[in-house]
Amino acid sequence: LTPHPFNPAADTDYAVVEAREQSQQAFQQVRQLFGKTYLPLVNGEYVSTSEIIDSVNPSNFSEVVGKVGLLSVEQAEQAMQAAKAAFPGWKNTPAKQRASILRKAGDLMELRRAELSAWIVLEVGKPVKEADSEVSEAIDFCRYYAAEMERLDAGYNYDVAGETNRYLYQPRGIAVVISPWNFPLAIATGMTVAALVAGNCTLLKPAETSSVIAAKLTEILVEAGFPKGVYQFVPGKGSKVGAHLVNHPDTHLIAFTGSREVGCRIYAEAAKVQPGQKHLKRVIAEMGGKNGMIVDESADLDQAVVGVVQSAFGYSGQKCSAASRVIVLDSVYDTFIHRLVEATRSLNIGATELPSTQVGPVIDGNAQARIREYIEQGRQEAKVAVEIPASDNGYFVNPTIFTEVPPTATIAQEEIFGPVVAVIRVKDFEEAIAVANGTDYALTGGLYSRTPSHIQMAQEQFEVGNLYINRTITGAIVARQPFGGFKMSGVGSKAGGPDYLLQFLEPRAITENV
Ligand code: SER
Repeated sequence: LTPHPFNPAADTDYAVVEAREQSQQAFQQVRQLFGKTYLPLVNGEYVSTSEIIDSVNPSNFSEVVGKVGLLSVEQAEQAMQAAKAAFPGWKNTPAKQRASILRKAGDLMELRRAELSAWIVLEVGKPVKEADSEVSEAIDFCRYYAAEMERLDAGYNYDVAGETNRYLYQPRGIAVVISPWNFPLAIATGMTVAALVAGNCTLLKPAETSSVIAAKLTEILVEAGFPKGVYQFVPGKGSKVGAHLVNHPDTHLIAFTGSREVGCRIYAEAAKVQPGQKHLKRVIAEMGGKNGMIVDESADLDQAVVGVVQSAFGYSGQKCSAASRVIVLDSVYDTFIHRLVEATRSLNIGATELPSTQVGPVIDGNAQARIREYIEQGRQEAKVAVEIPASDNGYFVNPTIFTEVPPTATIAQEEIFGPVVAVIRVKDFEEAIAVANGTDYALTGGLYSRTPSHIQMAQEQFEVGNLYINRTITGAIVARQPFGGFKMSGVGSKAGGPDYLLQFLEPRAITENV
């Protein structure tokens, strides 16, 4: 099948002086807005809350990026009632009109690109170059899902003599989106606009640590033209507001990206039919990974070293797609490790506002403590090949590579979500594939090889949703590498791909005897 053509948004070229200046100005402007309060959006109004939290800069946690009002359960219930009231009107709004609001949102993001990147850098500690790519991805989701909805809206005709057969899609109802902090703009946008363009009234509950960016997204979606009650911004405690919305009898669909633990809980909770509920809920859950990259004896090691370093340490390893296991054939093991260690030593760590920086802090103190525990665990299980000292100002963790890691070690099995890599030695390619597949997860995987039979074997047997051959394993592009995994990595088809919107829609077949 040939997909319809799609041109992804272009990232900023920071080699251009004007682009760098514009970025610096954006940082200054954003800093002037630090400490402002952002409120939830319920039924078209920004509502006051009794609870307000601080969102801080992970690179310098004395800086309060913004204050965010958290909804009570009663206010979340008001939002649910507003969504129900708005649903008939939104369902009947032509798909073309819904799609045009998405395109407008994408255009507004393009206009605010430098500013949005600055918010991402300052609220979640992502280095600016990667923050800029994230803005591109958010724009792509708006434009791609707009086009996808128009494609699906045509439906199908299966007419035969004497009988018309129409196959059509309608919205499901009320969608609850629970978004993560690690792609605070792109993933929140992707799940939200997919739900909206499909005609569902949508409530967005972001991760607490990225609520300010979600508030910026809210400004954009309101300006783009989503009517009141159709889109609502419902920041709140996951254990209270999140649980209330997941368990609600009027929720039809939950789109979640985040940890395995929370994803599994949502999946189980959503399966319970509540009193008064007249449907079964659909859950789309994108969870973790323990992604492996195989380096065989024929690999171009120049490429492999750069690809592994970027995949493992980009955004401090805080991507579900990040490389956390490197599986290396015995014959190239020592040479590869030597070069990997040298390349890791030359990483630019620290100032997230500079386009040359590759590694920043981790998201918060809990993450920092948890990752450091894994590093201590690793010292018991394997050898430290390199540990690069990172700053103490901010939530930094030392990028660390462990070698001679047994495939069953904790650091080779559990998702660490930090700048920590486990290198595993294997004797041959069959063993490499077996080790690569030996986890609960199946999200991304990589292979560096110039051996056609190995490449073919990986294509057939490497059990991952996204397999990358001779390149990095992060940074999927919308409509080019539709993204998502299976096994414990998630349920639901791939974001940025041709099946994604189907999950937000209910198909109907209408037959008429003529
Ligand atoms: N889509 C992102 C990537 O490919 C992860 O969420 O890196």
